[in-house]
Amino acid sequence: MTNEPLLFALPKGRLMEKSQELFNSMGIKFSFDNRKLVADDQTGEFRFFLVKNSDLPTYVHHGIAGLGVCGSDVIYESGKDFYKLHTFSYGSTKMCLAGLKGAHNNGNDAALKVSSKFTRFTRDYYNSKNTPVEIIKLNGSVELGPVLGLSPYIVDLVETGNTLRANNLEVIKELSDIKVHLIANPAYYKINYKRINKFVEDIKKGEENWNREKQK
Ligand code: PRP
Repeated sequence: MTNEPLLFALPKGRLMEKSQELFNSMGIKFSFDNRKLVADDQTGEFRFFLVKNSDLPTYVHHGIAGLGVCGSDVIYESGKDFYKLHTFSYGSTKMCLAGLKGAHNNGNDAALKVSSKFTRFTRDYYNSKNTPVEIIKLNGSVELGPVLGLSPYIVDLVETGNTLRANNLEVIKELSDIKVHLIANPAYYKINYKRINKFVEDIKKGEENWNREKQK
């Protein structure tokens, strides 16, 4: 092992909990106590940064973190290129067009009005279908868009569907599968490829064991 820890960005929220659980099961133990945003694992092999989901590509792109756990939705929005070294078994969701139950035109409008956090995805998706789209950028609680009359439609992630159901919305169309990846800054990977490749092997085996244990 070299002296410098591998620099690793983790996204706040659901993905962070799953990632920490997986890493713990592999003996990589760390915690962000007392609102700390930087944590070293007990072996000193890794230094973790806890960042906002949508900022994660920025940290990895600039090489502040060499590695990160990031959804394909957030990677796409960033417009940046990363090496994708592994696809995790957790965190899969779908990007969907949704609207108020029974109060929309099934997305068949001549021009769509859509609220979304995912403006790049929405623009590119409907451009590729030659469908005119007006996009209203929101940063969260997107389901409120149709509820309050901001727009008849949203493009958003649907995992369990609970948020849609609770707000009287329904999926109109599934637009894309979203997966969670281990990403690397290309230059950082080239400098640290031996250690990173070893870690990728460990994570593949570790994730298999972790999933097996959960099924018991
Ligand atoms: C995401 C997404 C939906 C919700 C979907 O939001 O934007 O709102 O999760 O999950 P579900 O189908 O399991 O209900 P997030 O929790 O990241 O919060 P946000 O609304 O502040 O973006």
